Amino acid sequence: MSKFHITGGVRLSGETVINGAKNAVLPILAATVMNGNFNIIKDCPNLKDVRTMLQILDAIGCDTRFEGNTITVNSKPLDTYTIPENLVSEMRSSIFLLGPMLSRCGRVVLSYPGGCEIGPRPIDLHLKVLKSLGVSINESHGFLECRAENLKGCTIQLDFPSVGATENAMLASVEADGITRIKNAAKEPEIVDLQNFLNAMGARISGAGTSEIYIEGKRKLKEVEYSIIPDRIFAGTILAAVAGTGGEVLLKNVISEHLSIVLSKFIEAGCSIKEEKNEIYFKASKKLNAVETIKTLPYPGFPTDMQSQFLSLMTIAKGTSIITETIFESRFKIVDELSKMGSKVKVDGRTAIITGVDQLTGARVFAKDLRGGAALVIAGLAAKGETIVENVCHIDRGYDKLDVCMNNLGGKIIRED
Ligand code: UD1
Repeated sequence: MSKFHITGGVRLSGETVINGAKNAVLPILAATVMNGNFNIIKDCPNLKDVRTMLQILDAIGCDTRFEGNTITVNSKPLDTYTIPENLVSEMRSSIFLLGPMLSRCGRVVLSYPGGCEIGPRPIDLHLKVLKSLGVSINESHGFLECRAENLKGCTIQLDFPSVGATENAMLASVEADGITRIKNAAKEPEIVDLQNFLNAMGARISGAGTSEIYIEGKRKLKEVEYSIIPDRIFAGTILAAVAGTGGEVLLKNVISEHLSIVLSKFIEAGCSIKEEKNEIYFKASKKLNAVETIKTLPYPGFPTDMQSQFLSLMTIAKGTSIITETIFESRFKIVDELSKMGSKVKVDGRTAIITGVDQLTGARVFAKDLRGGAALVIAGLAAKGETIVENVCHIDRGYDKLDVCMNNLGGKIIRED
């Protein structure tokens, strides 16, 4: 298993170009099965999850290519409506295929996506929206068999603005008869990107980015060429790493509006930020101030995907911070790892109380999930001495060469495979 050897204490500075968003590209790749045609997707990050999604598309009969940052998917032929079990178990995002496969084939068989390192991730909301569109679902022996003779547009009231369930509802209703309204929809930028992609393919969807999405079904779909939005979480992670080392950075290809609340927390911590069109210039303060409270919430609230990175940063801030995680219950696993580096964090249920210390010291730590892994890299870069981050595979799932990116800014990370 790969590990990172990080020599901490080096001030990061320079420029970074942000690549396409993991959470946008995955549902969009799943959506390429819908048109039975050519799809060209640009600005794709080269991530393990993206490659797994391509393996799934190949396995069901599509012809895929990944060259540079461009993916082409020819979904003309489809050999099967059964998604291979071994690939589903590798990646929870395979549930994004439910909606597109029902739209294309009226049928899909998928093994039940298992638990996840950040806590139980049920799919009840996904299944509920599909049922309201007229899908019959048979769950047995760990498999889901979904059939839709006739997808029918309807009003879907989500109990919670789940990102994935909103996306599956959009994907399935593109081929439904009549109008579908999704109420209490998630408003994340990646939902807007999916709407824009589907509309470029010929669908008629409006309202993404608000709590009500409106889909006019059964439009003729055509081939499509599309560029993925920049990854706001990758951008936020780099800013956190730079902040931890007291450095400065120019981020290029970034939409600062997608990072509004995250940027406001960096400002509270004493960092300075200049936003230009598609660029952010960021300078860390010499000593970070504690951000008093952070509470993760659905967009436009503070993203759960940035929580671990901020927790890591607050361990070396001046004062006490309180972080409340409301989306995923097991996202405080890094606390034990950070304590090996000398941090002072107490966890009480969904709340972490962080008392900043002067400095962290290098230690051998274990990445247990994607964002927590990135947070340990941030801690290692800021710490005194050498930090070894084990289980880098978790980080590689969602970051396209995080080590190379940090090294380009002057960081000292050696990957050992
Ligand atoms: C997506 C993102 C993930 C991010 C999360 C929240 C992708 C590929 N992943 O995940 O990086 O952390 O949004 O911003 O886009 N829930 C249910 N039942 C369901 C579905 C969800 O109870 O059927 C619960 C989850 O357990 C969780 C909450 O709803 O507590 C939010 O989940 P959701 O918004 O669905 O996240 P994902 O789409 O899985």
